[in-house]
Amino acid sequence: MKPIPPHGELRLVDDVPSAFAELVSAEAALAQGAGNEGDGRFRMALSGGDTARACYERLATSAAIDWSCVDLFLGDERCVPPDDPAANQRLVRESLLSEIEGARFTPMAADDPDGYAAILATQPPLDLVHLGLGPDGHTASLFPDSKALGAPPGALVVRNDDPSGRNPHPRLTMTFEAIAAARLAVFTVAGAGKHAALGAILAGEHLPAARVRAGRVLWLCDRLALEG
Ligand code: 6PG
Repeated sequence: MKPIPPHGELRLVDDVPSAFAELVSAEAALAQGAGNEGDGRFRMALSGGDTARACYERLATSAAIDWSCVDLFLGDERCVPPDDPAANQRLVRESLLSEIEGARFTPMAADDPDGYAAILATQPPLDLVHLGLGPDGHTASLFPDSKALGAPPGALVVRNDDPSGRNPHPRLTMTFEAIAAARLAVFTVAGAGKHAALGAILAGEHLPAARVRAGRVLWLCDRLALEG
């Protein structure tokens, strides 16, 4: 029986970065297409992590996208200097922005969650939020048993920490509410290291990633993540 995540669709793919790049190309074309009720721009929030880095490197080299119509944001950030090796904005600059031209990128300022929330609040709904899955079931910087899981209604970006200490640095993260406002949330899950977390979610465990809602939720998973 095909496993079905709590909410959304699971798509088993041979190569997660390639599948992600193809999906983003298709979604960007829809957003930029004529007749679209939108403004012709494609708005995407990006993730951190090694899987995301591989996805953006592939996106930069394989996707046929008019980047001049693309607005890029971050779903979460580590509260470190912009050029710190741990900074997600550095990951985005290295893996994607250094290879493309024309996209507008709005990084998160580590000391200003309210400022970023205000930026998001002035945008139309994001077309796509890209999310990873941590081995502990976190996504963005929404960690198990962390305060951000209970962010107050209306909060779009909050500070957060991992109470377990497994994930370093103070963080800023989009809340479930902010993610839920997006048209599409896409998880990219690759490798045997994610098998336990993905399996727990498919079995109904209420991990943070399982709580993500959006217009559509799509899980791009490879066989190692799904079958171990
Ligand atoms: C972060 C990410 C985080 C990441 C997962 C998966 O800032 O660290 O937003 O949610 O996506 O931890 O990371 P890997 O792909 O490296 O396993």
